Amino acid sequence: MEKRMMKKGKVSVVALFVLLLVSCSYASDDRPHKRRKSIPPSKALALNRVGSSVVFPMLGNVYPKGFYHVTLFVGQPPKPYFLDPDTGSDLTWLQCDAPCVHCTKAPHPPYKPSNDLVICKDPLCSSLHPPGHHDCKDPEQCDYFVEYADGSSSLGVLLRDVVPVNLTNGVQVRPRLAIGCGYDQVPGKYNYHPIDGVLGLGKGKSTIVSQLYNQGVVQNVLGHCLNSRGGFLFFGDDLYDSSRVVWTPMLSDDSYKHYSPGFAELTLGGKTTGFKNLRVIFDTGSTYTYLDSLAYQALISWVNGELAGKPLKEDRVMLSHSAGKAENLSKIFAMSKNTSSP
Ligand SMILES: *[C@@H]1O[C@H](CO)[C@@H](O)[C@H](O)[C@H]1NC(C)=O
Ligand SMILES: *[C@@H]1O[C@H](CO)[C@@H](O)[C@H](O)[C@H]1NC(C)=O
Ligand SMILES: *[C@@H]1O[C@H](CO)[C@@H](O)[C@H](O)[C@H]1NC(C)=O
Repeated sequence: MEKRMMKKGKVSVVALFVLLLVSCSYASDDRPHKRRKSIPPSKALALNRVGSSVVFPMLGNVYPKGFYHVTLFVGQPPKPYFLDPDTGSDLTWLQCDAPCVHCTKAPHPPYKPSNDLVICKDPLCSSLHPPGHHDCKDPEQCDYFVEYADGSSSLGVLLRDVVPVNLTNGVQVRPRLAIGCGYDQVPGKYNYHPIDGVLGLGKGKSTIVSQLYNQGVVQNVLGHCLNSRGGFLFFGDDLYDSSRVVWTPMLSDDSYKHYSPGFAELTLGGKTTGFKNLRVIFDTGSTYTYLDSLAYQALISWVNGELAGKPLKEDRVMLSHSAGKAENLSKIFAMSKNTSSP
């Protein structure tokens, strides 16, 4: 959860880095398909700017699992890791045998780190630290610490390793990308997700989408499509018909680190509620949609009214800020399949 306030009225279209939220309903094997051309790998770099994307199948659901994951292959030889895609943070990290001081229970053995450490002065390292908080105690390495809204965290170092990906144009590429080797993890206080790490998809320069873009592999575009069985995540811009996408401008203010369309107003059943200027962010790492308590109460009363006599389950959860300030946020609701939508 972001604490800084946004400047009002500074909405403009993000030109290169857009977040596509594709709404879809599809059969389980119905992924976007591109015709595969056979291109010799040596030509990959010359051709890959033209119409290439990377597609990751996503598995999981909002309820009961509470999270999704994609499989990323890392290393030589490449090994699979299950990562939680998170547009609310930038860094991609893996539980790492550096050795591991504290690793949480994970689907795969911890990643054996490469010896290609990212140095402290590297711009990717600086982009992970707030300005003024980047003292290079050890110039030879880039230490990182990330903490999430549920209290979970990862401490480690940044290194580079091969992350092989298959492009939609049939080409296989083996870029070296900077990722975090997390050797000290704290699990979330309220839920445990069996994952090997996090796939950071935020606006920052350190994301692997941004790195793939800077290496000329894909355009700096990411999108996802989810339903109750899973879905897919993609990097690149050739998998959708731009003219058939509904576009929403995002704040381009660099001081605001999350994807945000700006301030939102809560309307219920097409009527205004008086709840305006709600700061909204798109965060795939949050399982539910969260509202502040007043707007939440208004929504719940309205839903209760609309669904009088029908089953509606409500659950509560408390999230704590990295600053230690507790906020009482409520899960919106878990509606059973038997409940008809308003
Ligand atoms: C890429 O495709 C090849 C051939 O289908 C497959 O063996 C390999 O596992 C794929 N690699 C990744 C990273 O998906
Ligand atoms: C959060 O809300 C619940 C239910 O309204 C209440 O019982 C609890 O004391 C609140 N916790 C905090 C920290 O405000
Ligand atoms: C939905 O209704 C059916 C039949 O009435 C019942 O067996 C099932 O448990 C209900 N499912 C949920 C999720 O409440």
